[in-house]
Amino acid sequence: MKRPYAYIAGTGHAVPKRIVTNDDIAAMGLETDDQWIIERTGIRQRHIAGPGESVKSLSADAARQAMAKAGVQPGEIDVIILGTATPDRLLPATAVELQSELGCTRASAFDIAAACSGWLYGAIVGESLIHSGTAETVLVIGAEKLSTVVDWTDRNTCILFADGAGATILRRTRGGQKGILSSFMRSDGALAELLWRPGGGAEEPFTAELETQRRQYVRMSGREVFKHAVRAMADATDRALDAAKLTAADVDLLIPHQANIRIIEATAKHAGISMDRVFVNVDRFGNTSAASIPIALNDAIEQGRVKEGMTVLFAAFGAGFTWGSLVVRF
Ligand code: ACO
Repeated sequence: MKRPYAYIAGTGHAVPKRIVTNDDIAAMGLETDDQWIIERTGIRQRHIAGPGESVKSLSADAARQAMAKAGVQPGEIDVIILGTATPDRLLPATAVELQSELGCTRASAFDIAAACSGWLYGAIVGESLIHSGTAETVLVIGAEKLSTVVDWTDRNTCILFADGAGATILRRTRGGQKGILSSFMRSDGALAELLWRPGGGAEEPFTAELETQRRQYVRMSGREVFKHAVRAMADATDRALDAAKLTAADVDLLIPHQANIRIIEATAKHAGISMDRVFVNVDRFGNTSAASIPIALNDAIEQGRVKEGMTVLFAAFGAGFTWGSLVVRF
């Protein structure tokens, strides 16, 4: 049997209640302003989690919507894959706590650490599990609480990152052309230090000194990340289209990782896709890393931008570096 093996049967997303605008960040005492942030990133506001809002709770909210839309009961989920760079704790995986919360008693559950490519990597793994016969129905989530790992005194990073969760249900196809038509994934660990949290893991466990040096927080070389991101996104869009034997003209909508508007515009230009065929919501949600693509997909569906029969190209890149792409027919 040839692709498609799996299709996206349902989607959902959840974000924290609290909205933080660019002016709110400037009011924290950082030397920045609304105009600078909008011009350089396209971000106008983001959602930031408060007490009681965790990666698990946001994921559960998004997952319940996706399951309801797909008409799937918790007991029908075979595998839960959660892409996140900010698990609620380091042991066990947040995915198993989510499994318990949702009552998916038949499932196996695990986290994927691929930063902003987390949902996309998860979708590729989920599709492979369906193809191998291991699973029929897979819940793939991207969820983050990046507000807990950004340095709120660093204007280079805290303006970018945000919290949220997006969920998708992947199911085995039963004939037809609807589903994942092609995929591509790649990484380059030589670029790890361009965007990382140097301390706080097993190599440099938490100490008072580490905290004083703020080494547990995200550090980013913005210009270098920008350069490699544009390159990786261009590679990603080319590879998935080639593998699906399609061209830019066949793409009804590009849903890129919502890192910032300038990277999105450069990606669209490289791919030869005009901006009216590109979905953008970074202005409202900021960069939610692994959650950004599934949030954008659900948002696009709710806005009527993704309809039955459409061909959608997804492209992601993230810390690691990791990058990848999918072509999906809806
Ligand atoms: N407000 C005001 N000024 C700022 C701010 C800010 N928030 N942040 C930086 N500046 C200053 C800099 O300090 C610098 O000042 P200097 O010239 O006196 O040193 C000046 O603005 C220009 O800085 P640049 O870094 O050259 O600004 P640039 O145009 O590159 O924009 C940005 C910075 C937005 C971070 C850009 O480099 C970028 O988009 N990088 C990619 C970031 C990204 O998307 N990361 C996440 C992707 S991966 C993932 O999603 C996991």
